[in-house]
Amino acid sequence: MTTPPVCDYEGSDYQTSFWDEGGRAYEDQAEAIALKRLLPQSGKLLLEIGAGAGRNTPRYQNYERVVLLDYSRTQLQQAQERLGENDRYVYVAADAYKLPFVNGLFDGATMIRTLHHMQDAPAVLRQVRRVLQPASKFILEYASKLNLKAILRYLFRRQDWSPFTPEQVEFVSLNFDFHPKTIRKWLKEEDFKLERQLTVSHFRIDIIKRIFPASFLAWLDSLAQFTGNLWQLTPSVFTLSETLSKTEIAPEGAFFQCPECSHAPLEEKPDMLLCLECDAKYAINKGIYDFREPIK
Ligand SMILES: C[S@@+](CC[C@H](N)C(=O)[O-])C[C@H]1O[C@@H](n2cnc3c(N)ncnc32)[C@H](O)[C@@H]1O
Repeated sequence: MTTPPVCDYEGSDYQTSFWDEGGRAYEDQAEAIALKRLLPQSGKLLLEIGAGAGRNTPRYQNYERVVLLDYSRTQLQQAQERLGENDRYVYVAADAYKLPFVNGLFDGATMIRTLHHMQDAPAVLRQVRRVLQPASKFILEYASKLNLKAILRYLFRRQDWSPFTPEQVEFVSLNFDFHPKTIRKWLKEEDFKLERQLTVSHFRIDIIKRIFPASFLAWLDSLAQFTGNLWQLTPSVFTLSETLSKTEIAPEGAFFQCPECSHAPLEEKPDMLLCLECDAKYAINKGIYDFREPIK
């Protein structure tokens, strides 16, 4: 199966350079507030797609277990260091276009700051829907092209692409901004019922961030987030959806499936998983199930 290219974070210091030392305390706090508002009271098994170094994972306490999925092994290693030894967490290196799980396994999913790397977003949303049970919650964050800064830049002819048109814009290779209307259309097409939208990072403007403390901006943002159902003019939008159709629920004990041929179950050995259908073998390395490519 050929899938679109992946924006590879292998070896990246993203967590340190972008978050810990990148002056983004305000955005981090604003996202924490949005997540708290959208997360359900309780849940069993959550899939965190594009988990990175686990920045958001501790915010998912309401779920009994969390599967952190990321294409980058080194991001997952950083998440392991951050979260420590804990049976609550399962680490999976895999491509979001080929989720290595059986249908209807999870009762919740999140995808934060990850859709913006997806050239074929509907294909990923289809995968997310496949592994979710009916009536599951899905929190999706996306980067919006219809943000105030882009609108002003376009109107003053400082930017050649229109923020008003429905197609996605690739502003840097494998970094996409989406139109809110298009995201809503895709969610509907992939069997998600949109329940709520929160606009986030209203004050992501350098001069404002330099003048006001992060906690004050996050508080202001927390008030402005409520306008998200009315209009979306921020660079980041959080959506909460629920899966609609009565699709299957994974049987007790089922978990992984082969990302190459979709066969399940996989036979688990101490250091690998075997697909008895296509003979693919996948490494289990220091607590990370590695589905990026079969081992020889
Ligand atoms: C901008 S980071 C966000 C990390 C985390 N969600 C956060 O907000 O801190 C995007 C993450 O998506 C992962 N990613 C990109 N493309 C992917 C793909 N096709 N499958 C799985 N993960 C992917 C990257 O490895 C990276 O860790």
